[in-house]
Amino acid sequence: MNCLVVAFVLLFSFTTEARIGNSSEPTSYCTETKECLLFDLICKGEEYEVRHYEAAKWVTTEAESMFKDLAKMKAFRKLYNYITGENEAGAKIDMTAPVIIKVKEEVPLLEKSVYVLSFLLPSDYQKQPPQPNESTVYFTDMPDMKVYVKSFGGWMVSAVANKYSNDLKEALDKAEATYNTDYHYEVGYNSPMKLMNRHNEVWYEVKGSPVCPPAE
Ligand SMILES: *[C@@H]1O[C@H](CO)[C@@H](O)[C@H](O)[C@H]1NC(C)=O
Ligand SMILES: *[C@@H]1O[C@H](CO)[C@@H](O)[C@H](O)[C@H]1NC(C)=O
Repeated sequence: MNCLVVAFVLLFSFTTEARIGNSSEPTSYCTETKECLLFDLICKGEEYEVRHYEAAKWVTTEAESMFKDLAKMKAFRKLYNYITGENEAGAKIDMTAPVIIKVKEEVPLLEKSVYVLSFLLPSDYQKQPPQPNESTVYFTDMPDMKVYVKSFGGWMVSAVANKYSNDLKEALDKAEATYNTDYHYEVGYNSPMKLMNRHNEVWYEVKGSPVCPPAE
């Protein structure tokens, strides 16, 4: 009987654990940090891929601006300060990948919008991250989710990211896939110091059953 309880507890703790791991494992492009967020590939085509991510804890802040790139820089600085010691423990926390930005859809040009930026907490800090000193930095639990993904290289400036999120949306609409249309994610894997082979993605959250892209 006790064995069963232990087995159950073990199973439960395994299935609720975020999968964050060795950068060498998941992909060829997550190379600059010790740990990356791992995923299961559901399917892949030329137009997009479908992935499954398990729940994970992130450290998050937001910035409001008319300009996405400016908001991103402000928010990035705050989160960077948190991981480099502006927390109650004075802990230095390793940078991970990816960095994600939640972007509201359909923001009219020259109108302010709130951009929500998150760093993935390394596996050692998933359960009990130190409290941030800065009150506008907080934790978010991203639920277990499936996403539609489009990858691209180069620098993820606003105009480029917008082009790829539009391309992805078109491909999803053509495939009659359903997805969350309130926002998407812009996902970065590289530091500004990396000049070659940069990798970025845009994600839409799958709604209902995922639809795989047409075969290549
Ligand atoms: C990560 O990968 C490297 C190289 O494949 C391996 O030597 C190391 O043991 C792995 N570490 C963990 C924590 O899995
Ligand atoms: C953050 O807060 C802690 C505890 O309140 C304090 O000891 C520490 O000096 C603060 N760190 C910074 C960089 O402000």
